[in-house]
Amino acid sequence: MRAAVVAYSGGLDTSCILAWLKEDWYGFDEVVAVLVDVGQEFDLEESITRAKAALADDVLLVDRKDAFADEQCARAILTNALYEGKYPLVSALSRPVIAQAVAEIALQLGAEAVVHGCTGKGNDQLRFELAFKAHSPGVKVIAPLRDRIWTRDEEIEYAVAKGVPVVQTAASPFSIDENLFGRAIEAGVLENPWNAPPEEPYALTSDPTTAPPPLEIVVAFENGLPISLDGEELPLAELIAHVNRLAGAYGIGRIDMIENRAVGIKSREVYEAPGAMTLIAAHSALEDVVLTKDEARLKRPLEQRWTEIVYEGRWFSPAREAIDAFVDSTQELVTGEVRLELRPNAPVVTGRRSPHMLYATELASYGAGETFPHDAAEGFIRISSLETELHAARERAKIGM
Ligand code: ARG
Repeated sequence: MRAAVVAYSGGLDTSCILAWLKEDWYGFDEVVAVLVDVGQEFDLEESITRAKAALADDVLLVDRKDAFADEQCARAILTNALYEGKYPLVSALSRPVIAQAVAEIALQLGAEAVVHGCTGKGNDQLRFELAFKAHSPGVKVIAPLRDRIWTRDEEIEYAVAKGVPVVQTAASPFSIDENLFGRAIEAGVLENPWNAPPEEPYALTSDPTTAPPPLEIVVAFENGLPISLDGEELPLAELIAHVNRLAGAYGIGRIDMIENRAVGIKSREVYEAPGAMTLIAAHSALEDVVLTKDEARLKRPLEQRWTEIVYEGRWFSPAREAIDAFVDSTQELVTGEVRLELRPNAPVVTGRRSPHMLYATELASYGAGETFPHDAAEGFIRISSLETELHAARERAKIGM
């Protein structure tokens, strides 16, 4: 009995894969579809119907929404993770979670192979396969969309021939990945980088030109993590979902970028991540008043390295964990509140406060009662400028002045 366990999304690609695994040179006896809930919108009934039509022997739903929020989304917020300064890693964060769930089930079932629906062009294959290797050593990994390159039309034709229902969403010209932290939209008209993104594929955000009047919100943090919104304490998954709705109305977190993929190509990507962008803006604003200069200077480049490591699929790696340990040690006092005004396109930070601020009004103020040691500034500059004076004298000597 040869069994394969598939990371199933409910979409067209992975539905065709279910059917295909029983045919051709694969010839599996048993195919199990695993649908992992990481906070994406999906129609469970429809996904099950489609998997059954594709002759899957079993469809398993695994709820990892809270785990995803508390682990991957939390770490991304603590690390202010923005790939190439823009993209909050939406898909890169969910893959290790999905892969781990699939690998666990494959081990339980004694399956011969784990299967994903990524192509050979993207980053997601790395993320899935590195996570599979971390959790299921020796298991065979199958990537049907790498074994045979299907066009969208061929896929639709195959699905129709197999009696797999192709609904409007599955036939969309865009390739969409979604989770609690946002949505990634590629392909279709977006492949031409000159084409403006159409309104149609957006689901978490509205057109910013139709935004309601600005809205003020207050996010409270404890040890670097958001714990409440406007005074209401919420588990992180709910808090992110809530901010997604509030900020989504302003078109906040729409990102249109050309990004450098791990495989060496540039691709045009459109994202919408209203909650992620708002919470990262708030978190880093709170760090601004709490971290020492050196902590901040060390942390910013490490944030970038962390983001690249996770983007390239090395979630399960000692380097990522080592940076996490550094980040954790900086977050101990990142407790306080940030006030933001949600405006069209932008989560604007308008205030921050913390019992642990290093920001000292009595030092920074230009008003009465400030205590900055002005008399010491002159000596500070005399010593700081010694090297500049030496260098300037040497330059003058060169030209014989
Ligand atoms: N380019 C993004 C990344 O590498 C998103 C990929 C998501 N996949 C998709 N089918 N839209 O993280």
